[in-house]
Amino acid sequence: MPVLLLPAATPAAPARPIPAVLGADLQVPVKGGRLVPYANLDYAASAPCLEPVSAAVAAALPAYSSVHRGAGYASQLTTERYERARHTVRAFVGARTDDAAIFTRNTTDAMNLLARCLPEGTTVVVFDTEHHASLLPWPNVVRLAPPAFPGEAIRAVDETLAEIEGPALLVVTAASNVTGELWPIAGLAHIAHRHGARIAVDAAQLVPHRRLNLAALDLDYVAFSGHKLYAPFGAGALIGRPDWLAAAEPYLLGGGAVTSVGADGEETLWSDDPEVRHEAGTPNVLGAVALAAACDALTATGWTSLVREEERLVTRLRAGIAGIEGVRELSLWGPDHPRVGIVSFTVDGLTAREAAEALSADHGIGVRDGKFCAHPFVRHLLGTSDGGCEDGTASAVRASIGIGTTDEHVDRLIEALRALATQ
Ligand SMILES: Cc1ncc(COP(=O)(O)O)c(C=O)c1O
Repeated sequence: MPVLLLPAATPAAPARPIPAVLGADLQVPVKGGRLVPYANLDYAASAPCLEPVSAAVAAALPAYSSVHRGAGYASQLTTERYERARHTVRAFVGARTDDAAIFTRNTTDAMNLLARCLPEGTTVVVFDTEHHASLLPWPNVVRLAPPAFPGEAIRAVDETLAEIEGPALLVVTAASNVTGELWPIAGLAHIAHRHGARIAVDAAQLVPHRRLNLAALDLDYVAFSGHKLYAPFGAGALIGRPDWLAAAEPYLLGGGAVTSVGADGEETLWSDDPEVRHEAGTPNVLGAVALAAACDALTATGWTSLVREEERLVTRLRAGIAGIEGVRELSLWGPDHPRVGIVSFTVDGLTAREAAEALSADHGIGVRDGKFCAHPFVRHLLGTSDGGCEDGTASAVRASIGIGTTDEHVDRLIEALRALATQ
């Protein structure tokens, strides 16, 4: 048990006000050189930094030192901060006590790590609706067509898993990065387990918006990214069952992951602890500290007020968009299906790039355009089968919101779209 150098974590306090984000007063140039306040509506790509996250990083920096290596006080303190961050992040997603929590670079890295840890012969089942991070890393994959309704997703997984022999893993996103729609992960976990398969959930777009409880939902793995969770310091996490992770080849070969290295020709012994085995090299301590601070800040605020405010804003945004002729929201399961604060749409007569550029240049609004690293899904939603990455006609515009989004940002987007649609 390491000596506790930092004060023990305080017991749960009453809910705090929603924290501020850095950059809320950012001014950006529009056509003609005038400066306007930036309307950041691109949270699904990367969310701004929460003030408590920035403060936690600033507080950790003066004692910043090596992790797991030094006997010096600063090194011990930094090691304790890093391991405490692991504990916080694990608790944030409601992990079981024996789950491993491995710090990664991001969700893509987490999914690639999991792909390397699959037992031999594992078949992975994914829907074509996935972000490429969850669609592409698997060596042996069955891809399912986008389901017409949530129950169809469960039926398709049920039928597919029934045909698979040997180990199987279902990989599914909890909230779509294209439509924001929530997937029935509890039902999918239930079906997967009924077939003896496991389920890994891509929670990159869920955890910034909703509480996730891995143990209660009976998920085997979750992956997410700090930079989408108001912690833009380059850390993500893979959390879940330790057995496959402990049995796999280390993700990176090098210092920190070994228990002993013999002479040339002798065996190298790798740690059996997945959190050590798969974290070779010096880890991203500040990324981990930032990620944990974001988890703490969201938990301290409480999900009730966060969700209430987001739903109010997203309802306002969607109602505004629905009232503009020529602007069409993309949706897999219809307008009433629950979703997080992500809204993708097309504007008649304009490519997505033209619309996004006009929103920025004329109105100081930041959105994303393209296929959002979900090419098969966006093609499905648009009803196109062609469209390379550069084909602007087969793309959409995405507005996404979170902490720091205001009514004015939403209204500015709606007014700007109305102007664009009637040009
Ligand atoms: C649902 C989803 N999964 C995975 C990713 C990949 O995240 P990262 O780029 O942080 O690895 C994203 C990023 O947009 C995403 O939206």
